[in-house]
Amino acid sequence: MTTPLEIVFARLDAAHEPACAVLVGHDLALSPAVQSLNGRSGGQLIKAAEAAEFKGKQKTSIEILAPQKLDVQRLVLVGTGKAADQEESDWATTGGYALGQITARKVSEASLVAEVANAGGIKPEVIAANLAFGALLRHYAFRKYLTKKNGDDGSAGNGEQKPPADRLTKLVVHCADPEKAKAAFEARRAVADGIYVARDLVNEPANILGPVEFAERVKALEHTGLEVEILDDAALKEIGMNTLLSVAQGSARPARVAIMQWHGAKSKRAKPLAFVGKGVVFDTGGISIKPAAGMEDMKGDMGGAAAVVGVMVALAARKAPVNAIGIIGLVENMPSGTATRPGDIVVSLSGQTVENLNTDAEGRLVLADVLWYVQDRFKPRFVIDLATLTGAIMVALGKNFAGLFANDDKLADQLIAASKATGEKVWRMPLDKSYDRMMDSKNADVKNMGGRWGGACTAAAFLKRFIKEDVAWAHLDIAGTAMDAPKSEINTSWGSGWGVQLLDRFVAENFEKAEK
Ligand code: BES
Ligand code: MN
Ligand code: ZN
Repeated sequence: MTTPLEIVFARLDAAHEPACAVLVGHDLALSPAVQSLNGRSGGQLIKAAEAAEFKGKQKTSIEILAPQKLDVQRLVLVGTGKAADQEESDWATTGGYALGQITARKVSEASLVAEVANAGGIKPEVIAANLAFGALLRHYAFRKYLTKKNGDDGSAGNGEQKPPADRLTKLVVHCADPEKAKAAFEARRAVADGIYVARDLVNEPANILGPVEFAERVKALEHTGLEVEILDDAALKEIGMNTLLSVAQGSARPARVAIMQWHGAKSKRAKPLAFVGKGVVFDTGGISIKPAAGMEDMKGDMGGAAAVVGVMVALAARKAPVNAIGIIGLVENMPSGTATRPGDIVVSLSGQTVENLNTDAEGRLVLADVLWYVQDRFKPRFVIDLATLTGAIMVALGKNFAGLFANDDKLADQLIAASKATGEKVWRMPLDKSYDRMMDSKNADVKNMGGRWGGACTAAAFLKRFIKEDVAWAHLDIAGTAMDAPKSEINTSWGSGWGVQLLDRFVAENFEKAEK
């Protein structure tokens, strides 16, 4: 939970906040606004840049204290690199970087001059909106449980770093046409809202966020215009979500399924887009218990569910002209006297029997029933699931890429294009008969664990058994990217909110233009 950052857009000539960041292009290319600041200060900006050998490269900066004849105490020159080469997501990166520089100066208000020299084809207001978007994402910090102020160095006393204190409360973005920039920012802010929601959910510890509490938080989002329905354990039993319930049965806390509906398309009957999320609020492994080291990270095993909530919030907040369903399976995987055992056989909602050979392969059991349910009830255009499903995906791809599995090339290509546009990286992985065969069980229709190798691929092959003929489906294994991912200019949070941007973009690019 972050102290809110107010972002306002103002005209170029009015910058007078105590700290001011301005953009400088490759080889000190200066926009007219920055040229004028340089002129008023008697050429001090260029002199300082040369003295510091600052060339305007992206993610570099210098600070000029008390520049002559300018109404600012600190002027930070932020490099953008060659402006013509920058894409929208690069401007978000630069906005995030600039905010990091401002935050380090411990001011409460700051300005960012969003004018750029030699920009390429991107409109100035879109650049300004993306700079502000990146700044807002960088501003996020989970400080809910920090009751004491940070020391000056922000350290926790043992070398670990606490998130920076939120001194900054207001960022004024100066640009040529503030009204246009403000309008362009609306949709970006909606996505940032969704990302904040997702990060808050992933960062929240599992003692506070059980399945019931998670569902309550989703219900509380109805003010955004989402319609939310919560299925409790009695309803789940009645429906027959037995594999999902088998995961939950070891926990003292009951399961929930949350269904979010966004009706934004002109026609109420337009087929919905469907997003499915794995929401294991904590994954001990169950009876097949995980080793102790690092197990605390398994509070983030609901990162897929968090991303689905986040994208639904984004779609609602920007009133996307589509119909969409977000559905998440919320359970806790615990070992206990009531827990499911290795060897147990359960009848899934699809009717297929599933042999549980490793209770730590629980995410797929949750998804199996939810995937079947969403296809059966909503007849969606396609289904995309997000899940922190396997450690194996991190062995394969590391923590910068999510694994993408899809039974439909068009869907895969659309996701890859959105991935390139947003910087949320995906890499396509194989779905193949050979993996599918590895999931055959001698005692049941399917087992929940393959062999020693290809764990991410056998997990996807398992899920595919619960996708109906002719339904386009993609699965994103986000175990590496949803939590404890490498820090970036737009994310310094443990829970990244990965997937919200990707899916928002994917929807905007492919399903909105024709349907408006
Ligand atoms: N939630 C884990 C996967 C995971 C591991 C996510 C580390 C994030 C970080 C998942 O439920 C799991 O335990 N998968 C097992 C499957 C195996 C037992 C077939 C795995 O990947 O080891
Ligand atoms: Mn597990
Ligand atoms: Zn898990």
